[in-house]
Amino acid sequence: MNSPIEIRPLAPFGVEIAGVNLSDELDDARFRAIETALDVHGLVVIHGQTLAPERQIAFARRFGELEVHVRQEYALPGHPEIHLISNVKDGERSIGSAYAGDNWHTDLCFQRRPARMSLLHGIEIPQADDGTPLGDTLFLNTADAYDRLPDAMKRRLEGLRAVHQYHRAQEIKRRQREKDHARATLSAEQRALTPDVTHPVVRRHPVTGRKCLYVNQTYSFGIEGWPEEEAEPLLASLFAHIVQEPHVHRHRWRVGDVVMWDNCLTQHKAVGDYALPQRRLMHRTAVNGTVPV
Ligand code: SIN
Repeated sequence: MNSPIEIRPLAPFGVEIAGVNLSDELDDARFRAIETALDVHGLVVIHGQTLAPERQIAFARRFGELEVHVRQEYALPGHPEIHLISNVKDGERSIGSAYAGDNWHTDLCFQRRPARMSLLHGIEIPQADDGTPLGDTLFLNTADAYDRLPDAMKRRLEGLRAVHQYHRAQEIKRRQREKDHARATLSAEQRALTPDVTHPVVRRHPVTGRKCLYVNQTYSFGIEGWPEEEAEPLLASLFAHIVQEPHVHRHRWRVGDVVMWDNCLTQHKAVGDYALPQRRLMHRTAVNGTVPV
């Protein structure tokens, strides 16, 4: 018989779930409990999992169609749906996207249909000399951030659309890391697959209908129809409003953790406080979502 599923709150938001083994096929009731927790709380942590790539793919697929990332050079060989986030090298080449996500962002917001959710499985976690885990991931709740806005700002944001640019973010990352983790400039094909997109600055969560602030420091570079000198201060004030320390949940990784987040309801940032020979290897699957409205 299946053991009961336990859902415990995390601070200041999110939940931890115990009593599930994701390498088994979950019955519908248990799957729905996880899916509902994700839709409502935005962040779900499950410790102690050993997920073979096929099992990770099968479980993630229950949430929807899987993303095949445009940077296939960082896919787990034989598994295009698993994007490696890693500073590990094979010779001179980083096997994964190294120090990906080390500024606040939501995954794949640069696509017309951004990711609904992401699932990150911790395979190798870097440690300090005293055994303290490094490479934590930080999370924020974008609906709570919207709720905290003054009414005048809520009115000002109505109808605005932000411009999200993958190629620009990638170029910044390429320059930041060219000495230790050189990444190629986007190929012509990758560039063609990632045109600039616009999304509402405030979008409704597709399941709960909550309003979420949908701009982030990594990919949002402008406001549609606004001159840069006007868009920049507005975006900067929204970033400062969203990113406030007391509202941050910090996930300290253990090998075997599965962390899932909703990419409308949360933003995240990976802390890059480690370097080789400290190795970080994570398997990420992302599930395509709906066009933001
Ligand atoms: C991501 O940005 O999707 C990955 C976050 C992490 O590596 O902790």
